[in-house]
Amino acid sequence: MSSRIPLPYSPKVLELFRNPRNLGPLEDADVVEMAGSPACGDMIKLYLKIAHMEDGDYIEKASFESYGCAANIATASIMTELIIGKRLEDAWRISWKDVSNELGGLPPIKYHCSILAVGALKRGIRSYYRRLGIQPGWLPKDLTIEEKQVIEEEKLMERYYRSMASLDANQG
Ligand code: FES
Repeated sequence: MSSRIPLPYSPKVLELFRNPRNLGPLEDADVVEMAGSPACGDMIKLYLKIAHMEDGDYIEKASFESYGCAANIATASIMTELIIGKRLEDAWRISWKDVSNELGGLPPIKYHCSILAVGALKRGIRSYYRRLGIQPGWLPKDLTIEEKQVIEEEKLMERYYRSMASLDANQG
């Protein structure tokens, strides 16, 4: 008998885990961004298609690939639904908490899954403007909580893999 206790996922998380929206790569994406977490080895890849309009840059299409847990799939899925049709400026303001709330909440141990998804989004928006050589007034120079957390987690992951590799080398 398994000793694992099922996590208290909301019905929305379970529904999107079973039937994610906007899953898969976008062939004509303007932005492809990844974010990874060492806490679990999970990754998200986010694709954005941007449309230039007179009043700003809009997210015309968004999709994702997830190599993560149920919460990661659900957060990435709902985030793509939230951002499609939004100006980049408005999508930028979405926080990991907003995404979690849209799902009816996440268990605390799964907060970082939402942070990972929003971190990939913010990273993608930054890299889009960096490539254009533009710094919009609404885009802060300082990293947000989500971006900092993703970098922290990626560093941990790198350290973990390095120590595993040296263990392997020592045993070989
Ligand atoms: Fe790592 Fe969900 S447990 S992304």
